[in-house]
Amino acid sequence: MFDLNNLLRENIRKLVPYSSARDEFKGEAQIFLDANENSFGSPLTKWYNRYPDPLQKKVKQKLAEIKGVAAEHIFLGNGSDECIDILLRAFCEPGKDNIIICPPTYGMYEVSANINDVQVKKVPLTPGFQLDLTAIEEAVDDHTKMIFLCSPNNPTGNSLDKNDIEIILNNYFGLVVIDEAYINFSRFRSFTQELNDYPNICVLQTLSKAWGLAALRVGIAFASEPVIQIMNKIKPPYNINQASQELVMKALEEVGQVNGMIQEIVKQRGELIQQLSELSVVEKIHPSDANFLLAKVADAKGIYNYLLEKGIVVRDRSKVELCEGCLRITVGTPTENKELIKELKAFALQIH
Ligand SMILES: Cc1ncc(COP(=O)(O)O)c(C=O)c1O
Repeated sequence: MFDLNNLLRENIRKLVPYSSARDEFKGEAQIFLDANENSFGSPLTKWYNRYPDPLQKKVKQKLAEIKGVAAEHIFLGNGSDECIDILLRAFCEPGKDNIIICPPTYGMYEVSANINDVQVKKVPLTPGFQLDLTAIEEAVDDHTKMIFLCSPNNPTGNSLDKNDIEIILNNYFGLVVIDEAYINFSRFRSFTQELNDYPNICVLQTLSKAWGLAALRVGIAFASEPVIQIMNKIKPPYNINQASQELVMKALEEVGQVNGMIQEIVKQRGELIQQLSELSVVEKIHPSDANFLLAKVADAKGIYNYLLEKGIVVRDRSKVELCEGCLRITVGTPTENKELIKELKAFALQIH
């Protein structure tokens, strides 16, 4: 049985959270002398002298409408990277508990676990980049607090089989973290619509990808109310700054434009696949549900360095297990993609 209290670290269960001035004061007032801010304001901008809303209520309300998920099920982090770190700190006892990750996958699960002295059990994806359910079952022990699944997965680009994820949700009684950073580029539905079916689910999304706001650092965790309350309890009080909250509110008004942009990126992805597949140096392009492609190429290191010389940076994943010989290429604007193809053609000519 899933028992949140049992999963939670003892010290976090007992923790008395920091209570900020803005947490304690709820009403309307004209004069704020409670938070040791600078009432004069900055000479640079007069309106950033006050601490922001610690619980980002307006942003969450707007996100709730867009995502069809109640605001109480939403946590905002300084990027999903902060959500990952907070989950580890809430549930994993350093030096004692462990998590399961399924490489090749997003690197921060492991780094964040290492920072927190949490053991990482690695259960590689199958050669088809799907979950190895038997191996995951074997890896789970009494101290396995979380399983991180990334779908669509970075760097492979594919979505994990939904049935496999459901089998884990139904049979594993720790927290199942499903990182959906790239979900908007995929053909599949988000697990955010299934929060009520699984007490042990935590879905991560981000404004860094489809929304085009990586610099604002806003990541989203969707989970049961008790899990969200725990995350709120341990986060730094003002983790989403005022400028980000304001800009995100503006951006969230533009769902239509964002959807148009997503469609354009998906279209560009198709065209890039087509053009790459015609090149002699490209051996295989893995199917992608994301805004990037994993391509097996003839000489990954050589191409990587050649592109760098031409001012184009891609990600060399050729040393990563199951991604041998592969480059990860983000879908760019039509001009950027054209430039990439031009340089790849030039590289191919050079070696022939
Ligand atoms: C799978 C995955 N999750 C999370 C992140 C980080 O997102 P954020 O910018 O919200 O920290 C990335 C960034 O590349 C990613 O690939």
